[in-house]
Amino acid sequence: MVSTKRTEAAPLGRPGEGLLPSAPVPRARILVVDDEPNARAALRTLLAEEGYTVSEAADGMEALGILREQSMDIILADVRMPRMDGLALVRAAREEGIPGAFVMMTAFASVETAVEAMRSGAENFLTKPLDPATILVVLDKVLEKRDLARDAEQLRLRVQERYRIDSIVGDSAALQAIFDVVRRAAPTKATVLLLGESGTGKELVAQAIHQESPRREKPFVKVNCAALSETLLESELFGHERGSFTGAVGRREGRFELADGGTLFLDEIGDIAPSVQVKLLRVLQQREFERVGGTQTLKVDVRMVAATNRDLAGAVAAGKFREDLYYRLNVVAVTLPPLRTRKGDIPALVSHFIQRYAQSYGKHVRGLLPGTLNALLRYDWPGNVRELENVIERAVVLATTPDLTADDLPPVLSGPSPSHPRAGSFIPGATLREIEREAILRTLEVVEGSTSRAASMLGISARKIQYRLKEYAEQEGKPAHNEEGQPEPHR
Ligand SMILES: Nc1ncnc2c1ncn2[C@@H]1O[C@H](COP(=O)(O)OP(=O)(O)OP(=O)(O)O)[C@@H](O)[C@H]1O
Ligand SMILES: [Mg+2]
Repeated sequence: MVSTKRTEAAPLGRPGEGLLPSAPVPRARILVVDDEPNARAALRTLLAEEGYTVSEAADGMEALGILREQSMDIILADVRMPRMDGLALVRAAREEGIPGAFVMMTAFASVETAVEAMRSGAENFLTKPLDPATILVVLDKVLEKRDLARDAEQLRLRVQERYRIDSIVGDSAALQAIFDVVRRAAPTKATVLLLGESGTGKELVAQAIHQESPRREKPFVKVNCAALSETLLESELFGHERGSFTGAVGRREGRFELADGGTLFLDEIGDIAPSVQVKLLRVLQQREFERVGGTQTLKVDVRMVAATNRDLAGAVAAGKFREDLYYRLNVVAVTLPPLRTRKGDIPALVSHFIQRYAQSYGKHVRGLLPGTLNALLRYDWPGNVRELENVIERAVVLATTPDLTADDLPPVLSGPSPSHPRAGSFIPGATLREIEREAILRTLEVVEGSTSRAASMLGISARKIQYRLKEYAEQEGKPAHNEEGQPEPHR
């Protein structure tokens, strides 16, 4: 914000100057509406000296004409004027949805006029003869109030527009939809089923659900159902009494008990044996169970989140997974899309992982050399985010310069690039679309993958960048030039 002459002007010996706020105010635009030329001139001098940009109008009609053309922060209007008076002006402006705060000036300091002015939509009023110090204080108040309202509105929009979970990086529409479900499901006790290929972030989302829930202070307990045999899994989940099976030495609490009050994350749920499926179904239905070899019925308060990279519906159809259990688990389902379908998340993920591993390995790596992001966007990422994370970790370890280069990437990624020559060297000679592509990719490299920062530098929306990245990803693999080396016509 620009500070104005106001701060220097304030100490000039004007009556009541002690009342003047000393904080600098932004240069606000003000329209003075008065049929008295002398009154307008006096106000103009006062306000201009304070750093306001002043316009004038001789009556309501003229003022309305000006307001339709350009917006004002404040309209300082006399009440009594020929043609259209001040109150009619406020009403007309409000009806037309013209922005700006009205401050009315009236010679008749009656309560009625004041009330009527406020009712018509005015923000404040001043009584004539005008006292310069009072005018300035009132105008300041009006601006301050407007700024507060504006800040509150911006905050509200920001909260509404973007819900973020710190640990989960990415701003693709797909992830936004997931944030939305997490935000709504987390506070409840509903069972959440997380689906998606390996490495897409299911465990991360499970943790986020716990973190965003009222249970966050209580345990988050994870059980990897695929890693344990049938017997061991049962005892792991429900605990066992002494000597209940070979190897059960002492009495042991199960994960359900450990997770009491918190969240139990059943990972690889698609792999559990039928006998355990039955027991799980009972806990889901009745929230009670017995330890293996035990008779006492235990009750727990546990929120369950389950995950699998298998096609669970397919397993149900094939008779491998109980249908009733499937429906119990599938109360809220979240499917994490593979990374190849949301390549727009790659720049942000890359910069997130560079930061993480530069720090943990104590290396000075800050970003990517131009062209490197292209290679990362071209690849299909069968191992999803986990594979990307591994590639970046490896690159950070190998890096000899502050910016990662294609040489730091594994061979599958560092192959010859079908990308275009760099901008500058190919203007003229490239289509506007190719130049746009270069501009977007190079800006992203400079801002370390932040689509929002790239968007503000390029003067376009972050959504558009996301959209373009998806397009580029889809176009990769298709030759960008035909045999003659002529650019292909763009569709
Ligand atoms: N959106 C993301 N932002 C930041 N890190 C992510 C994101 N998605 C995944 N990761 C990271 O990628 C790695 C793999 O994620 P995660 O373990 O959650 O995958 P998963 O879906 O559970 O895979 P699997 O089915 O193989 O168990 C983790 O290190 C995780 O932190
Ligand atoms: Mg996992």
